[in-house]
Order: sequence, then structure tokens, then C-alpha cells
Amino acid sequence: MKIAISGKGGVGKTTLSAMLATALSAGHAQVIAIDADPDANLAAALGVPADQQPAPLGEMKELIAERTGASEGYGGYFKLNPKVDDIPDKFAARIGNVHLLVLGGVKKGGGGCICPATVLIKALLSHLLLHRDDSIIMDMEAGIEHLGRATAESMDALVLVVDDGPWSVQTAIRTRELAADLGMTRLFVVANRIADPADVERISRQLDGLPLIGQIPLDNSIRNGAATLTGDGQLQPTGWLADNLQVVDAILARLREST
Ligand SMILES: Nc1ncnc2c1ncn2[C@@H]1O[C@H](COP(=O)(O)OP(=O)(O)O)[C@@H](O)[C@H]1O
Ligand SMILES: [Mg+2]
Repeated sequence: MKIAISGKGGVGKTTLSAMLATALSAGHAQVIAIDADPDANLAAALGVPADQQPAPLGEMKELIAERTGASEGYGGYFKLNPKVDDIPDKFAARIGNVHLLVLGGVKKGGGGCICPATVLIKALLSHLLLHRDDSIIMDMEAGIEHLGRATAESMDALVLVVDDGPWSVQTAIRTRELAADLGMTRLFVVANRIADPADVERISRQLDGLPLIGQIPLDNSIRNGAATLTGDGQLQPTGWLADNLQVVDAILARLREST
């Protein structure tokens, strides 16, 4: 399964990404988790201590210069097809069977400029999506800018997270238009932070046909919790993750049957 997760800020994208990565890896499958949000915190959600979190690839100046041939500043020429196939193994943080890559914020140049960091990240995503068989969970920001047409089409699903607040459904519906431009049609919605079943009915009425495939309850233990690692380095669903694993497995089952 190659799954992208998007939605308005704060709705629970990272939480769901961590849940899906953990659930997928529980069957001992290798999972590549990609933190594509400039405000990166998937490592924390997966239980990686603050002092061990991987550095964002988009900020690795030496790596970017070495691979693209770009010199300081954006003046010169650089390669548009840098070597990236060794990057997942060299730079991913391993959390049990989950291999986490943090892309980091890539500064956008004016007028759609292509900068070396963007080129490296796009090449890496193409490699992961088009040439590898691993399961992929990609935690994105509200937009889906990191995806190009080919990478978007290689995603099995785009999961849009909404919550009980007034604006997240609008973001989901707007994202559907961006996704359609990229040729993505397998869109699904997960409602998070649900305290009242009436909210689910209200949300599904507002979704304008987008399929709601799961709901995660409001759970105060999620707020501060993270998955923990057992001594042998496995990612162990504990606390909130264990409590909600059935919900996540059901979401995965729905995704598998519809993609
Ligand atoms: N179902 C839930 N119940 C309680 N708190 C939640 C729930 N889902 C997410 N949270 C908390 O809400 C905050 C935002 O969630 P996060 O996954 O970081 O959102 P996003 O990645 O969309 O910005 C985090 O502190 C998270 O622990
Ligand atoms: Mg997040």
C-alpha cells in the first residue's frame, strides 16, 4: 500500500500516519514513512526521542550539492536527475520495521523556480513511488505540492483527515480539486477527534460524496502519547495506539478493498 495523508493543520494527519505505519509494520512488512510536512513531527509521533530525530533531507546542503552538482547559490547549472537510490538506506531512521525519511521544508523560490533541494526530493519521491515495492505512508501538509503527476498516480490512496471543527471539511474538498489535477481519484476521508456520533453524520453530509472510511475517537491519551519502542527495537503499539489499533486496521482493510 502506498498511502498519502493530507488535511488541514492540526486535524491529526501525523497521528494517523503514525498509526498506519505502525499497523502496516506489525505484520513485519517494511514500511517507508515519509514526513513531507515542513513542520515535521512524525518522528516524535513514532516515539523517536527528540535528540535522535533524523535531520531533514531538504536541509542537507552537502548532500544536495554532492548529488545535484549545485554550487552555493542558485546561479549555476545542476543535475535534474540526481542519484537517490541509496538515500533511503543511508538516511532513514529505523523504528522497528518503519524506515522514516524526513523531507523538511524546501523554500519555494519565486515564480515556480526549481531549486536543487526540490529536485533531490522530487527524485527521491519518484524513486520510492515508482521503483520500490515497500509500503509507503506519506504524511503531508494541507497541500499536496510534493507530488507530481507520476508520483500522485502511483499512490494507492490519498486519505484526507477531517475533524469536528468547521473548516477541515472545506480543506478536504479543496484538496480533491488539487488531487484531480494530478490524476488522483482514490480519495478517502477519515474523521478524527470524534466525541459525538452526531458529528460523524454531520461531517459525512458535508463531504460532497467523498467516502468516509473511518473515525478515530477523541482520546486524551492520544494528545500526549507516542508509540514506544521495545528493547529489541520493534515499534510496539502501546497506550493510545494499542487502544485504536482496531480502528486503524479497519481503515487499512477499507483501503485495501477499494484500491
Ligand atoms: N483523536 C485524537 N484525540 C485527542 N488528541 C488527538 C487526536 N488526534 C490527534 N490528537 C492530537 O492533536 C494534535 C494535532 O495532531 P497531529 O496529528 O499532529 O495533526 P496534524 O499532523 O494534522 O497537524 C496532537 O497533539 C495530537 O496528539
Ligand atoms: Mg503533522
